Amino acid sequence: MILKIALTKGRVEEQFMELLEKLQIDITPFRNKQRKLIIDLPGYQFILAKGPDVMTFVNRGVVDLGIVGSDLLMEQGNEKNELMDLKIGQCQFILASVAGFDVNAPGRKTIGTKYPRVAARYFDRLGQDVEIIKIEGSVELAPLIQLTDAIIDITETGTTLRENNLVVYDRLTKVSTRLVANTMALRHKKTAILNFMHELSSVIPES
Ligand code: PRP
Repeated sequence: MILKIALTKGRVEEQFMELLEKLQIDITPFRNKQRKLIIDLPGYQFILAKGPDVMTFVNRGVVDLGIVGSDLLMEQGNEKNELMDLKIGQCQFILASVAGFDVNAPGRKTIGTKYPRVAARYFDRLGQDVEIIKIEGSVELAPLIQLTDAIIDITETGTTLRENNLVVYDRLTKVSTRLVANTMALRHKKTAILNFMHELSSVIPES
């Protein structure tokens, strides 16, 4: 039985490769993939997807499993059907801006983010009415070019913030990569999924 898995391209993919290598799985097809989007390994078919699309594929049942950041699950309200924290792709939501930004300054702030729902929930909890501007990438640009007062984004190594002289004003929820499943697949491919989880659990890093 083949497990079909939507895997988030990029950093998550790279870190997931390390887990597969620890499981002694030959990942040569990934290393040689060039622009291929579907990669077959014995027992698995990996579909390389953009993060926001992973849950579309899982929810529509065209894949059995998804490997995706909890940042996207939070943003999409897709937190059910999460099977495991893979403890890779660890990062954190932050509120950041240029030096001198005053979180408590009066007036309606503008916030740039790839995560409008996460940002809205954060400012709701603070009781602050803000204007949220959705940005698709390089969110750090927003306060630098005075598009917004601040950003809600994720940071992993902190390099992008540091190299752009941005300051962290608050740390929000921690984020990591999760294994999620389609409900029907959980029923019909239960044994294969449980075996995959069992294998992964032997190589998942300590917190
Ligand atoms: C994410 C995030 C930051 C960056 C932070 O963007 O939105 O821009 O990573 O990482 P760091 O703390 O390790 O520097 P990503 O690289 O995924 O792409 P994007 O800028 O196109 O959104």
